[in-house]
Amino acid sequence: MASDRLLGRKAIVTGAGSGIGAATAARLRADGAQVFTADVQGDVDLVADLTAEGANARLVEQAVAAMGGLDTLVPCAGISAFHPLEGHDDAYFLKVLDVNLVAVFRLVRDAAPWLKAAGNGRIVTIGSTTSSHGDEGLCAYSASKHAVLGFTKSVAAELGPFGVTANCVQPGAIATPMTAPAFTRMPEFRTFWENKAALRRLGQPEDIADVIAFLCSDDARFMSGHGVWVDGGAMVRH
Ligand SMILES: NC(=O)c1ccc[n+]([C@@H]2O[C@H](COP(=O)([O-])OP(=O)(O)OC[C@H]3O[C@@H](n4cnc5c(N)ncnc54)[C@H](O)[C@@H]3O)[C@@H](O)[C@H]2O)c1
Repeated sequence: MASDRLLGRKAIVTGAGSGIGAATAARLRADGAQVFTADVQGDVDLVADLTAEGANARLVEQAVAAMGGLDTLVPCAGISAFHPLEGHDDAYFLKVLDVNLVAVFRLVRDAAPWLKAAGNGRIVTIGSTTSSHGDEGLCAYSASKHAVLGFTKSVAAELGPFGVTANCVQPGAIATPMTAPAFTRMPEFRTFWENKAALRRLGQPEDIADVIAFLCSDDARFMSGHGVWVDGGAMVRH
C-alpha cells in the first residue's frame, strides 16, 4: 500500500527498465521518494550501459543534479543465463561479474560521499538465493551473487559509522523478463520453483519491491549488513 514513508528521499534505481527494478522505482515513488532511473534500455532517466567506463560516476552526477542530492541506492541491473561449466567461455563469465558485481561496486563507491553526507543513507543491493547456494549452469551468476552479498556486508561495516545502512535482498524465482525464457523453454523448471516455495507460487516483481521499500524506510533504520531471502519460503525446504 502506498504511503509517505519515503518522503524526502532521493534514490537511484538501476535496471529500472524492466522487472524488479521497474517495480522498485514505482514503489519508491508511491511511498514519496524522488527516483532517478537508469538502464541500458527502456523508459528511464538515463539510458546507459553501466559497465562502461565512467558510467556510474555520470549516473551519480546526473541524479544529484536532477534531485538536489542523493541518499538511497538500489542497483537492480543484472544479467543471467544458463551456461554449463565445461565450455563456459571467459568473456561471458567476466561480463556477468562486470554487470552484477563490478558495476554495483562502482555505483556504491561513487555515491558514497553523498550517502555519508545525508546521514541516513540507504543501500539495497540485489543478491539471489544463489548468494548462499549454487545451481547447475549458474556458476558465473552464483559467483557474482555470492560476491555482491559479501560486498554489501563490508559496505555496511564501513559506512555504518556515517548512518548508512546496506542490506542485500535475495529474491527467489521471480516472474520477470530475466526468467521468462528459461520458464518457457523448461516448464519443469518453473514447476520446480513453484512447488519448492512454501507459498507454492513464483514471486512477482512487486513482492521484492515492497521489501526493498521497507529497507529504504526509517522502519529499517537499525537493520544493516544482512542478506534477506524473499523467496516465498523456498530455501527453508529441502
Ligand atoms: N527474476 C528472478 O528470478 C531473480 C532472482 C534473483 C535475483 N534477481 C536479480 O534481480 C535483479 C533484477 O532482475 P530482473 O529479474 O528484474 O531482470 P530483468 O531482466 O527484468 O531486469 C534487469 C534489467 O537490468 C538491465 N541491465 C542489464 N545489464 C545492464 C547494463 N550493463 N547496464 C544497465 N542496465 C543493465 C536490463 O536492461 C534490464 O532492464 C537482477 O540483479 C537479478 O539478478 C532476479
